[in-house]
This record gives sequence, structure tokens and C-alpha cells, in this order.
Amino acid sequence: MDPVVLVHGGAGDITDDRVSGKIKGVKLAAVEGYKALKNGGSVLDAVESAVRLMEDDEYFNAGYGSVLNLNGDVEMDASIMLGSDLNAGAISITKDISHPISLARLVMEKTPHVILSAEGAQKFAESKGIPILEPGALVTDFAKKALEDYKQHGGQLTEIGGIIKPKNAGEVGTVGAVAVDGLGNVAAATSTGGINGKMPGRVSDTSQIGSGSYADNNSGAVSTTGHGETILKFCLAHSICKDMENGKSARLATKESVEKMTRRLNNTAGAITVSKIGEVGISFSSKRMAWAYVKGSELHFGIEQGQHEVECVEDEI
Ligand code: GLY
Ligand code: GLY
Repeated sequence: MDPVVLVHGGAGDITDDRVSGKIKGVKLAAVEGYKALKNGGSVLDAVESAVRLMEDDEYFNAGYGSVLNLNGDVEMDASIMLGSDLNAGAISITKDISHPISLARLVMEKTPHVILSAEGAQKFAESKGIPILEPGALVTDFAKKALEDYKQHGGQLTEIGGIIKPKNAGEVGTVGAVAVDGLGNVAAATSTGGINGKMPGRVSDTSQIGSGSYADNNSGAVSTTGHGETILKFCLAHSICKDMENGKSARLATKESVEKMTRRLNNTAGAITVSKIGEVGISFSSKRMAWAYVKGSELHFGIEQGQHEVECVEDEI
């Protein structure tokens, strides 16, 4: 079976001027994750390295470039899960670290817990030698402008970091990755700055196992993006895995769960899925979602509904 590494860079009303930067970022991340697998890494190494790349990229709402809460601060959430033993780790409301996904992995591997939050997560990061950045180091001008726009004009927080009216300046997008290796081992990872103008202390779906990420070698792995409160109520990632366990393909399980959630809760999201047999599922009820995956020597990618392009990446991997 061919391994697959599939990533997303957030679902939402992505503005035209952000499209090419997002596509570039997801393509690089998919290749990075695939290289980790090819070089002997595990599925966890693959999803972690893909997400780390996007956490460094200001085109995405994770790590550097995260959206701001009402106080103008970055508060980040992340989760990671391994399908072979259902081991999982997550963090919420963490500040001033470059790679929340790696802290989530440390929670999984070095503590008896699944989720650490706020001050406790921060202290744990310090105890593991993770560099703590100067306050404000993750704040971009784009994120500041988005918060100003939100405070001045209001608007609905209907998409991740995005203001539908009057402007879309806050749109950036949660990031995530799923991977399956040649033996059917799966993993998922998701990382976010949350939603623009959120209340301080707000916890996202991204940090919740079953909503933001889920992975089980009996079914597959899922990472979600979109309106967090909606995804939380529906337990979107787990719902897709259960449908696969009950016999649906990755494509159908992903599409039907996203559609069902959107109908039931009248809000949008997106999800990426790999099944234990290497099938791919990509679905979003928002206007756009950047995604990319590598399988064999091919890099597949898209951002519009129905868009699916393929390039050869044999030389890069
Ligand atoms: N179920 C309660 C606890 O884990 O603390
Ligand atoms: N889905 C990410 C968030 O709402 O924070």
C-alpha cells in the first residue's frame, strides 16, 4: 500500500489575494510530511513536521500568524493522535511558543494526561525546554488589522478567523495533517490560533480529541477546520471515523458528515481524511479550503470546490 500524507490550511471565505500563498504553503507541508515518512519517520513524525511548517507560515492561523483574541493576544490550541493505540495529546490556551503541535505531542508522550491548558501547559512547555518567545512575537500586522476591523465593524464570526461582513481581513485558517503508512498505521494533527476576536480563555475544537483530530487504525485519521463551536457540537472528526468503521469510504464518510453537520447546525467546516487502506477524503462546506497530499510520486492539491490538480514531485521526495 502507498503511504499518503494529506494536509489542510483552513476552511473559510479565503480572499483572492491569499489563495496563492495558501496553496504554496499546503504543497510544501504535504511534501515535508511525506519526506519525514520516506526518511524512516513514523506517521506521527509526518503529521507533526507538516503542521510545524504551517505553524511557521504567516499565511495560516497557527503559531506565527495566529489570529488575536479581544485583548490582542495570541492563544493557541493543538492536538495530535496516533491510531495504533489511540494515544493522544493536546494543549489549549498556550502563548508565546512557536510550535504548539510539538507541545501537544509532548503531552501525549511525557504525561499521564491527554489535554493540558493555559498556565499548566505553559509551565509544562518551560519544563521541557521549549523556548518561550517574547510577548507579541507571534503577532503579525495582518492579525492586528483583522482584530481592528472586527472591533470597528463587527461582523459575524462565521468562519475561522473570518469576518463575513464587511471585510475578510481576519481570514487565515487552522492547519492540519493526516497520514497513513504502508502498514495502515494512521495519525492526525491539528493546530490553530482559534477565531479572530474570541473571548480570552476560549477553547477551540482543535484541542479536542474527536472534534479537531481523531485517529484509529480500525478506521482512519481525520483533521478538521472551520467554525470551532459547530465542529465541537458535532464531534466531526470522530463522526467521520465511525462512519468509516461502519463501512463507508473515506470520501463518502467525510462528505456526508460535513454536509450533515452543516445542515444540522447551519455553519460551515472542512475535513481531511485518510482511511486505514490509504483512501483519501476531502470535503468542505465553506467557500474554499486549501489542501494537498502526496501519494507515490504525485502531489495533489486544490482550494476551490471541485478543484483537483496533480503535479509530479519525484525529484523532491
Ligand atoms: N472524568 C473526570 C476526570 O478525569 O477528572
Ligand atoms: N476550528 C478552529 C477554531 O474554531 O478555533
